[in-house]
Amino acid sequence: MNTDLSANNNMNQNMIRKNSKDDIAINQILKQADTVMSMSPDEVFASISEWQEMMTKYNCAIREIRTKFEVLNDELSIRSNRNPIHGIYSRIKSPRSIMDKLHRKGLDITLDNIKTEIHDIAGVRVICDFADDIYEIADMLLKQDDIKLLTYKDYIRAPKENGYRSYHMIIETPVFFSDGKEMMKVEVQLRTIAMDFWASLEHELRYKKDLDKKTLAQISADLLNCANTIADVDNQMMGIKDKLYPKYPDE
Ligand code: GTP
Ligand code: MG
Repeated sequence: MNTDLSANNNMNQNMIRKNSKDDIAINQILKQADTVMSMSPDEVFASISEWQEMMTKYNCAIREIRTKFEVLNDELSIRSNRNPIHGIYSRIKSPRSIMDKLHRKGLDITLDNIKTEIHDIAGVRVICDFADDIYEIADMLLKQDDIKLLTYKDYIRAPKENGYRSYHMIIETPVFFSDGKEMMKVEVQLRTIAMDFWASLEHELRYKKDLDKKTLAQISADLLNCANTIADVDNQMMGIKDKLYPKYPDE
């Protein structure tokens, strides 16, 4: 079995790659494949179990963060008579994307590297009705004394060149397991419904590999236009909301 694999490896290695990044990635895959094939079934199972355990922990972290947002939404809906959060979505990064990201960073596929170098294994996306709700909700989450903010990117005040808007945070939240507490990283993205609509369509563009340069440039320009229009509409909607729901109705 090992002989077959190394024959296979040699054949793959003989395929000359022009791009050195590809070389690194391919060598890593081959190295990893060699390691897996030289493992005993018990070792393979142990490795799979460790992976599953880690992903379960990230899933638990997602549940913790979702609950925190749900609680905030419930409380705010009583205080202000409206639900600031329109929807909460979450996902665990797929094994394929995890491997691709490690390869892009030139790192080995190890649980340690996954834990320390990849910050978006657990992802929670919060869709708000209005742009100012985003800051209010992010603030309320960060005020909770068990939440630690690692980094944030404010693509609302400083949109990306393509027009992308969202508020991103990498946070750490404690999750309590039978053998103690573990701080787990979660990527949180907050956006309005309109920003989310735009980001979904723009995301599609990344997978369209068959577009010619001119069409791609035209679509990108159209998307940038839409992003600016959306930002304008978000602002106007916020103004209407402030009239409908004054912050301090008793004053
Ligand atoms: P990765 O893209 O995950 O490697 O992270 P990064 O270090 O570039 O972080 P960033 O906070 O810029 O982006 C994190 C995530 O936000 C991405 O994985 C996407 O889900 C989303 N995102 C960032 N930029 C864009 C964009 O231009 N368009 C769309 N549709 N989504 C984006
Ligand atoms: Mg990501």
